[in-house]
Amino acid sequence: MLIEIKDLYKIYNEGKESEVRALNGVSLSIDRGEFVAIIGQSGSGKSTLMNILGCLDIPTYGDYHLDGVDVTELTDRQLAHIRNKQIGFIFQGYNLIPALNARENVELPLIYQGLGMEQRHQRSREALERVSMYDRATHKPPEMSGGQQQRVAIARAIAT
Ligand SMILES: Nc1ncnc2c1ncn2[C@@H]1O[C@H](COP(=O)(O)OP(=O)(O)OP(=O)(O)O)[C@@H](O)[C@H]1O
Ligand SMILES: [Mg+2]
Repeated sequence: MLIEIKDLYKIYNEGKESEVRALNGVSLSIDRGEFVAIIGQSGSGKSTLMNILGCLDIPTYGDYHLDGVDVTELTDRQLAHIRNKQIGFIFQGYNLIPALNARENVELPLIYQGLGMEQRHQRSREALERVSMYDRATHKPPEMSGGQQQRVAIARAIAT
């Protein structure tokens, strides 16, 4: 299994009056090459689950193995390494950097991966072509429609 979670809990503000049990004993296995959709009402915990699967947040209790590695045991530094190398993440809000154009937004994580300029240009070009945004490579997010921004965010995820 590529992704394996068991009995996962996420409790925000535990013990306080504002406590929210966002995940309540979730178990799930996803194999390499599988496509999975998580469906649920607003506020049901989808983003919370995705943030944990994407190693952006940690569960309050429970197990998460990513490609055989127990990620709940890792340091922040090790989690950052996994985010850089193994995970492409498209945020609910696209989290594009407004001052950078489409190509620069796609290439930013590739800089952190240590890729050289030639390789970055090639990868960003391929990714932007796949989402039909290469002709807008020099445009900045405020000059794009919502769907175009979403496509650039997808290109950034697949380039990684
Ligand atoms: N940082 C936080 N602190 C406290 N409560 C939070 C926090 N983040 C999310 N929540 C609460 O946890 C619950 C799950 O939120 P989450 O964002 O995972 O929902 P969602 O399924 O993605 O919803 P939507 O479809 O509206 O995006 C909600 O009740 C939300 O208010
Ligand atoms: Mg959400």
